[in-house]
Amino acid sequence: MMSPLQARWCACQDSPHAGRFGPISWPLVPLWGIGRLNLALAVAYVAWGFVHVLLSGLTARPVDAIRDTWLGGRVLSAAGEGRGRMRIAIATFSGTGNTAWVVDCLTQRLTALGDEVSDVAIERSPTGTLDANACDVLGLAFPVHASFAPKIVRDFIAGLPPTTGKPLFAVTTAGYVAGDTAWYAIRALTAKGYEPFVLANVIVANNLRLPVLSPLPIPSPEEMEPRLGRAVRKAHRIADWVHQGERHVEGTGLFGRMLGVSQRLLAAPLEALAFQGFFADESCIRCGWCVRHCPVGNIEMTEQGVRFLEHCILCMRCYSFCPEQAIQSTERTQNTERWPRYQGPKGKPYPEPR
Ligand SMILES: Cc1cc2nc3c(=O)[nH]c(=O)nc-3n(C[C@H](O)[C@H](O)[C@H](O)COP(=O)(O)O)c2cc1C
Ligand code: SF4
Ligand code: SF4
Repeated sequence: MMSPLQARWCACQDSPHAGRFGPISWPLVPLWGIGRLNLALAVAYVAWGFVHVLLSGLTARPVDAIRDTWLGGRVLSAAGEGRGRMRIAIATFSGTGNTAWVVDCLTQRLTALGDEVSDVAIERSPTGTLDANACDVLGLAFPVHASFAPKIVRDFIAGLPPTTGKPLFAVTTAGYVAGDTAWYAIRALTAKGYEPFVLANVIVANNLRLPVLSPLPIPSPEEMEPRLGRAVRKAHRIADWVHQGERHVEGTGLFGRMLGVSQRLLAAPLEALAFQGFFADESCIRCGWCVRHCPVGNIEMTEQGVRFLEHCILCMRCYSFCPEQAIQSTERTQNTERWPRYQGPKGKPYPEPR
């Protein structure tokens, strides 16, 4: 049974204007098909953002003060003041390849600058196994999921070992806007001895287009070219900040914080309302690709065919890369022209198959 809100969104998406949000930020999704309920939601949610930011300003240290603490001179000296060869480990998660592509760009630039970069695939690194002392600088790279890091990344971060003054940078990728995601994801790491000095986002492309949950369009190949040009330039700037040990923190201003607070507040209820999980339709050839590549083991092969369990992190990998496009969110996604699959800048997922 569809709720009235769902029914309304579905009706909207069957209109010729479906998928024409353009680069409007994610928190405006509730305004889709403006009506009294949606308007009230939007107002409540902006008001909540203001109240939260105001309260956190009164009760906690201002973000700037936290930033100054993070960005003390020790970070620069620990990172070798940008001189000499640094061993940089980048722990990466990427659902559909955007983040992996950005990490490739970072790696190429840092290597050209003389650093030694190793890539750690978060989904192949059991929680708590990373040896932070084996690198001079630790990097984290992951996609923005409604102003959260994906759960697999949150678990990885929670399992990072304590250290002393380890310089840390975090790079997010987003379709439109990241807000304070990087800061929010790593904020607890300062207490464990990590010293964040670069928090930055690269806009690559939206990979989430599903009925009801997200009518946002994914870019066409023609639109991708200029996007990737801008993304590579941003990735190179980030690599330069990291190499120089230069402070650079994005997303902790008023707008970034408000966006983050609002999105985090709404993400879970919206997802519960609008996303009922994936299923494989009759075109599944039982090749097992999705089972092998789901980063959290949420897909099983049974005698009846592919079965989805209950802990999907909505990374979009199986849905986007199933060779038969047999994975659906609703029957409507069988229309792959209307609901195209996004396959990252390289047209392949990350990490490489074992
Ligand atoms: C569940 C989910 C939530 C998302 N939330 C946002 C968001 O809040 N803002 C945004 O700009 N993009 C959002 N996106 C788009 C991704 O952040 C973006 O496409 C990212 O680059 C994907 O990286 P990946 O290919 O490495 O997984 C979301 C994608 C998913 C799957
Ligand atoms: S990847 Fe697609 S075709 Fe292969 S088993 Fe999974 S659902 Fe079936
Ligand atoms: S079921 Fe699909 S979308 Fe969900 S976590 Fe696994 S690969 Fe990602």
